[in-house]
Amino acid sequence: MKRSFNQEPMPNPKPFLTQWSRRQFLASSAASVAALSIPSSHVPAQENREQVRIAVVGSGGRGSDLIRKLTTISTARIVSVCDIYPPHLERGLEFAGAGAKGFLDYEKMLKEMRPDAVVIATPLYLHFEMAMLALASDCAVFCEKTMCYSIDQAVRLREEVKRRNAIFQVGLQRRCNAIYRQAIAMVETGMLGRITAIKSQWHRNNNWRRPVPVPRDHPDWERLEKHLNWRLYWDYSQGLMAELGSHQMDVANWALSRGPKRAMTSAGIDYWRDGREVFDNVFCVYEYELPVSDSEKSAADGSDTGSEPGSPHSDAVSSPTYTVRVTYSSIQSNAFEGASELIMGTRGTLLLTQQKGLFYKEDGPLDPGWSQDGRVDQDAEVVTSGKTLKMKNDPWAHRGKPYEIDSTADDTRSELVEFLDCVLNQDPATPCNVDVGYEDAVTALIANQSAKEGKPIENEWS
Ligand SMILES: NC(=O)c1ccc[n+]([C@@H]2O[C@H](COP(=O)([O-])OP(=O)(O)OC[C@H]3O[C@@H](n4cnc5c(N)ncnc54)[C@H](O)[C@@H]3O)[C@@H](O)[C@H]2O)c1
Repeated sequence: MKRSFNQEPMPNPKPFLTQWSRRQFLASSAASVAALSIPSSHVPAQENREQVRIAVVGSGGRGSDLIRKLTTISTARIVSVCDIYPPHLERGLEFAGAGAKGFLDYEKMLKEMRPDAVVIATPLYLHFEMAMLALASDCAVFCEKTMCYSIDQAVRLREEVKRRNAIFQVGLQRRCNAIYRQAIAMVETGMLGRITAIKSQWHRNNNWRRPVPVPRDHPDWERLEKHLNWRLYWDYSQGLMAELGSHQMDVANWALSRGPKRAMTSAGIDYWRDGREVFDNVFCVYEYELPVSDSEKSAADGSDTGSEPGSPHSDAVSSPTYTVRVTYSSIQSNAFEGASELIMGTRGTLLLTQQKGLFYKEDGPLDPGWSQDGRVDQDAEVVTSGKTLKMKNDPWAHRGKPYEIDSTADDTRSELVEFLDCVLNQDPATPCNVDVGYEDAVTALIANQSAKEGKPIENEWS
């Protein structure tokens, strides 16, 4: 690939046709090798408006998932797959099915196939350059999260998408998940009251490593290690914040309708001291500043009959904004509670996961419901004399049964369906557009900057 757009280092762009991989590749099944030379059957987009001709670049873990889901969508037609690592290319072609042509060179694929849309599922450091090339080839772009490796790239990519009024979507699939959409609607209609805090996390218990298929003393080990385990090295990756935190922080940005004002992060390599460079343990506190609403202002200046001296909003007129604090943690040595977001408001709480959302009503700040007036909730028990109370099993029990939001839909498939609809309708209003991707990238990247510089980082980019 040319480095025409990229100012960042772009290490290791050569295809893996070394002695080792060539042998491996040639030894692979005749059928899939044959698939590499299947000629293109190019149908210009305008001749078949019912299907989008898609080229996929990067058929590793995520790319393979996307290919498999695309093959279940009637508006999708995968015309080609590109990957510089032959075993992955072979697998991607197998998933894509007959008719998809294989490429080791992305630019060549764009020139030869002239697809309607490009799906980018390569390592983070390549997103910007590949997206810019796809846009220059007049393609719609579906780019996996995180949108860009650096803020500078995110600024430039956003400009380019807007300049072209291009169809561009970032792969933050919660944006297309029925549970999250319902939850955000509940936030917007005020069911949670004023949001006062968000607590979010993605905790795992694994080392994130992939096996390297040659011994450590093999001349190709270093290159294969960096290629397969790119997530662990700063030249290619932005670590946990980009790989996992981008999802949760997008939910926070969505619920609060903006990006954060500042980020403070403590992070380190605390457990997996195996040669990796990126943190395996990240704890962030973000501050968001929101405007005080008109109804709160009138409550504070007394024009609303409900105003009370000493109410939480009584200084609202002199202080036109308030702060919402959002915590995010990601660890790789304990998976307790997995991935979730807890959105807390004065009237209720949403506990969100991709499979289920739970809404708990709040009893109200003056009536916690289990320790007022010496009275004890029936689900609580006194375990010592004095005030110490212990809830039975479920710490949420005193709040009663939550409302459940369920969905069995596959949000990754849904995001692809919606993207393809936008392409077919030539509609740039994708469900996760470049502004969302931009804000999300900035949010993830300033957390890393804060950890590296050891100080809070003001968000100057939103
Ligand atoms: N939205 C999600 O839930 C989700 C889940 C997983 C990964 N992702 C994102 O998808 C992207 C890929 O992640 P992954 O886990 O699939 O990584 P991966 O390493 O499994 O796959 C990346 C693929 O890109 C290929 N590649 C590298 N350089 C290339 C080049 N110059 N030209 C063509 N192909 C090249 C590699 O050979 C590899 O097959 C990342 O941005 C990641 O954050 C998103």
